[in-house]
Amino acid sequence: MDIYEIIQKRRSIRSYKPDPVPDEKLNKILEAARLAPSAANREPVYFIVIKNKKIKESFKKAYDEEWFYTAPLIICACSVPDRAWKRSDGKNYADIDATIAMDHLILAATAEGLGTCWIAAFKTPIVKSILNLSSEFEPLAMTPLGYPLVIPEPTFRKPIEDMVKII
Ligand SMILES: Cc1cc2nc3c(=O)[nH]c(=O)nc-3n(C[C@H](O)[C@H](O)[C@H](O)COP(=O)(O)O)c2cc1C
Repeated sequence: MDIYEIIQKRRSIRSYKPDPVPDEKLNKILEAARLAPSAANREPVYFIVIKNKKIKESFKKAYDEEWFYTAPLIICACSVPDRAWKRSDGKNYADIDATIAMDHLILAATAEGLGTCWIAAFKTPIVKSILNLSSEFEPLAMTPLGYPLVIPEPTFRKPIEDMVKII
């Protein structure tokens, strides 16, 4: 699959097979995240891979959707604002850097035949507490990771002229 096919193929997967994710594939997609660019190369990004069943179970207090727990793994992407580059107007790029790394991870997972789904609607204080994160780590997004059981049809996108202006 080339990059365009991978982008076309990616979906938000909300139903997973219980089959485990081979470590070789997990390592490949984490490496794709590691190679992501970041502002001033500060790399203010940290990933936590949750395999532990008890920790997964306790996540239900932070994100209460049954389908999420059908996947064998959960990955939590954190930004680290204190480590990030800041623009002269004070804008902190930690969340942008973490988002780029997460998107690398998600597209690499698609290339490996694995499903993911960006999740932002979780209770941050509960995730911080379960993962015992120090205050410098900001959980930004999570995804389940596993083999898709159901692959949905593509969702609607606005036409290109509604998002691009060439001048
Ligand atoms: C930053 C971000 C946060 C999201 N948070 C959630 C979420 O909390 N729960 C959920 O079910 N989907 C979530 N999604 C998935 C979107 O609903 C989905 O990407 C969008 O509907 C387009 O569908 P597609 O990913 O299949 O193309 C999120 C997506 C992004 C990019």
